[in-house]
Amino acid sequence: MNFQKVKISEIKPNPNNPRIIKDEKFKKLVKSIQDFPEMLELRPIVLNSENIVLGGNMRLKACQEAGLKEVPIIRAENLTPEQQQEFIIKDNVSFGEWDYDGLANQFDTSLLNDWGLDIAYTEMDEERRELDQQAKLEKKESILNEYFVVPPFSILDSRAGYWQDRKKRWLEIIGDMGESRTDTLISSLPMKYPRLYREYGRIRKEGKFANFAEYISSFPSEELEKECKAMSQGVSILDPVLCEVSLRWFCPKEGVCIDPFAGDSVFGCVAGSLGRRFRGVELREEQKNLNQMRADELKIDASYVCDDGQNIGKHIAENSADFIFSCPPYFDLEKYSDDPLDASNQSSYEDFLKILDNAFTASIKCLKENRFAVVVMSNVRGKNGAYHRISDDIKDIFEKNGMCFYNDLVLINQVGTAALRASPTMRTLKVGRTHQNVLVFYKGDTDNMLFDDFENSRENVNMHTDVMVFYKGNPKTVSDHFNINDIKNESKDV
Ligand SMILES: C[S@@+](CC[C@H](N)C(=O)[O-])C[C@H]1O[C@@H](n2cnc3c(N)ncnc32)[C@H](O)[C@@H]1O
Repeated sequence: MNFQKVKISEIKPNPNNPRIIKDEKFKKLVKSIQDFPEMLELRPIVLNSENIVLGGNMRLKACQEAGLKEVPIIRAENLTPEQQQEFIIKDNVSFGEWDYDGLANQFDTSLLNDWGLDIAYTEMDEERRELDQQAKLEKKESILNEYFVVPPFSILDSRAGYWQDRKKRWLEIIGDMGESRTDTLISSLPMKYPRLYREYGRIRKEGKFANFAEYISSFPSEELEKECKAMSQGVSILDPVLCEVSLRWFCPKEGVCIDPFAGDSVFGCVAGSLGRRFRGVELREEQKNLNQMRADELKIDASYVCDDGQNIGKHIAENSADFIFSCPPYFDLEKYSDDPLDASNQSSYEDFLKILDNAFTASIKCLKENRFAVVVMSNVRGKNGAYHRISDDIKDIFEKNGMCFYNDLVLINQVGTAALRASPTMRTLKVGRTHQNVLVFYKGDTDNMLFDDFENSRENVNMHTDVMVFYKGNPKTVSDHFNINDIKNESKDV
């Protein structure tokens, strides 16, 4: 083997060269030769005895392009034709792999790119592009958030960081960490002491206590107080960000908001803080008093009356309200009191629905034209395990009162994945419910909607599709026909 310099015009490219080079890379190779010609001396072009290139076809082409007249070569004279072929392939095979982390740590990636490290370039660039894309999306999202509070899509994701941050800020402002619910829920011991309720579930079979109330009474009062305080952090209160979004999107500034099932103080406090006026009807005296105290402390325009929501027309004049916001009881999911008028205390779904019907019908009469109503609702299961049609029944109530169903939103609840994994309901193929429906109705002529009355008058985009699951047969026997382990095994196979 000998090194020498040969006139470029005397060198013959290999006509059967199996490698190709793309324009972009070729340009980089030319530039690399111009910038660092010494490299050619250290890695000369390999020729056979007939001056045909065995190794370095691309480099030869690039040298021609770079205007070189002579190039360093090394001659492999003693190779058989088979060995020459083997050399051509092996010269181009790359056995190693790039350590991308090492490259990124020790080299300037833009230089690597200039030097033609195409694989590294592509992968790193891809990663960078993805990050850029993500940053762009986040930026877009944050612009949307600035404008609309949260992205104005049909999915309201309360798990998202921006939502949680905002929620924290709201709870600081309105100072309600759930106490306004726990302190007043006299008849719902399981809600007040959920941890003890779970404990009780474990020991119930031992038969030591006749019921949960008796079990609770076996604890000293200080301990119960502590338990209740600790749990109030986790109690499900109305989400203040949902209140804010509903108000900013669908309630005119300074508008009067009404709710026939007022519940805790969250909505009234958010509404008042946003310059709206709130009038709420709540059946439980102690809840009404606590809410009023909080509203007065915050010096906001929110007032509560203690009455049956079906009587809302006695407190609010017809056609005077700008917004209805309500999160009524989800039938008997949580029982609020033993009052026979309490919608959560009805023995049949039909009786529960009658109260909702009367209260909403009366509320709609109080609403002005060109105004919205938002109802937060979740479907609940009946005793046989099948769902009631609460959301649909509510749609019927609003529609028969002349309002149209205008936006169909879904509020994704914040649920720990551990809770999801542990969910025993899949034994009977009941998919764990982690969302609530936020139904938006409009009163008035949609063709002549006065958008200027609303802060964020831009339409929402539908981002979810309903997937409804029906079952033919007695829902109680689902687990007799379907085995959860089969489902688990099948998903493992995938
Ligand atoms: C789901 S809560 C309201 C939601 C509330 N924003 C919350 O999360 O606490 C339902 C409220 O409706 C009240 N309620 C039940 N039946 C009622 C009725 N007939 N009239 C007025 N309020 C009623 C309950 O006392 C309870 O506070």
